Amino acid sequence: MTLGLIVLLSFHVLASVFWAGSTFVLARTSGAGIEALRRPQLGASIVAVLTGAVLAAWIHGGAFGRTEQVLMIAVVASVIALLVQQLDRAHVARSQRIAAGLLMIAVIGMVAARYVA
Ligand code: HEM
Repeated sequence: MTLGLIVLLSFHVLASVFWAGSTFVLARTSGAGIEALRRPQLGASIVAVLTGAVLAAWIHGGAFGRTEQVLMIAVVASVIALLVQQLDRAHVARSQRIAAGLLMIAVIGMVAARYVA
């Protein structure tokens, strides 16, 4: 099912790029333009988490080696970023900055995971 995996991974990376990219921009602009980005950002984060969960079960189900441990750190960083963004809506600049740092950890962990085995 290589094609299925490619399609799923593409959706995952596209959603993640939008989520992280919009977060980095909002962190830099102290939240300017949040009204237009709030819903798309939430949508992208949900797609990233759901496709990521399927990928994790599909590719790494049952394993817990060094690759999965690094992935786990990235996943925890992503989930905290999502919670901070959605629960601290009153302080947009602060929550987007915190989420940006966490999503940097997430991207690095996701990309590095397969090479640390
Ligand atoms: C709960 C959230 C997430 C889960 C469960 C998850 C899970 C995964 C899994 C299992 C893979 C495949 C790893 C492999 O090829 O062995 C992956 C790849 C990837 N993820 Fe995530 N992910 C999540 C969130 C994110 C976020 C927030 C980002 C970026 C901001 C991200 C960026 C990437 C990238 C760029 C890849 C491709 C890595 C590569 O093929 O080299 N992921 N993710």
